[in-house]
Amino acid sequence: MSTNSQNLAAPLPIPIDSSVPARVRGARVNSGRTRLLRPFAGVSTEVAKVALSDICLSYRTERGERLLALDNINLQVRAGEFLCIVGPSGCGKSTLLHLIAGLHQQTSGQILVDGNRVQGPGTDRLLIFQELGLFPWLTVGQNVEFGMKMKGLCKAEREENTQYYLRLVHLLQFKDSYTHQLSGGMRQRVALARALATEPDVLLMDEPFAALDAQTRDLLHDELERIWAETGRTIIFVTHNVREAIRLGDRVALLTFRPGRVKREFPVSLPRPRSLEDVHVAHAAREILHELREEINRSLEVEYNVGVKPHVTIGADQ
Ligand SMILES: Nc1ncnc2c1ncn2[C@@H]1O[C@H](COP(=O)(O)OP(=O)(O)OP(=O)(O)O)[C@@H](O)[C@H]1O
Ligand SMILES: [Mg+2]
Repeated sequence: MSTNSQNLAAPLPIPIDSSVPARVRGARVNSGRTRLLRPFAGVSTEVAKVALSDICLSYRTERGERLLALDNINLQVRAGEFLCIVGPSGCGKSTLLHLIAGLHQQTSGQILVDGNRVQGPGTDRLLIFQELGLFPWLTVGQNVEFGMKMKGLCKAEREENTQYYLRLVHLLQFKDSYTHQLSGGMRQRVALARALATEPDVLLMDEPFAALDAQTRDLLHDELERIWAETGRTIIFVTHNVREAIRLGDRVALLTFRPGRVKREFPVSLPRPRSLEDVHVAHAAREILHELREEINRSLEVEYNVGVKPHVTIGADQ
């Protein structure tokens, strides 16, 4: 992997000022649209939107052994916060999102959303995967409508929401196209519109932009940040890319290699909008990369089960 992080100057500390929501300072907030679902009123610091307490999860492997995937996770996410989660492959990031989505049950501990225990899937939370799950036999508009149909919205509401959210992701003119007629980035935006159209309070995003080219990813970072600022959603975003986490997040939580534990949390209060190329973003990334590198090396030791300690160098472009 690249070693270009060595060429950078000593890292700046990540500015920590959690009293002022980063998006207030320089964010592209309401761009003049008439319908704001939840006008931004600042990140609430009092009530946790999502609260994970002492979460442990064990899987049973095919050989019947117990694999502790998550160990004693404690995390609180504020309403309207953009939390990014990073960690080495296999540390339990997707598992954690599945638990919050209510798709799996933790072995112990509890998850509260708005103070209510998560006991299964709910329309207040929505998980967006890297594999988008769009239906190729439906048009873009019908794909966006699908989740709302499942939710029981009437036709008039579905049509209004479809128009609104397709406009929000700049795809209204492709409403009657089929997904194979779109680029990867456009399909990703359809998936985002479909997720937003069901109006979940909490968006759970599992490496949604990992397969995209750099230009499309940059564009979608801008779009996602704008939509987040306009709608006031709470977002929990998993990524392998530390710079992406700093580009987007109010806070970055780093998980350890198996079992996944919260190793450290990094509040990020660089002014928005940020750029992946920004030197402050790169410097902030270095601090997290240093700790992530330790976990990746630990994972390699376990995966390859070798006596000689393997070493990996990861660049600041990660
Ligand atoms: N259904 C399952 N049965 C058994 N083990 C599982 C199952 N799903 C995940 N695991 C194990 O749990 C651990 C965490 O998996 P998870 O997919 O959450 O990791 P991740 O951090 O999302 O990894 P990546 O970054 O590669 O996507 C891994 O060791 C994985 O092998
Ligand atoms: Mg994963």
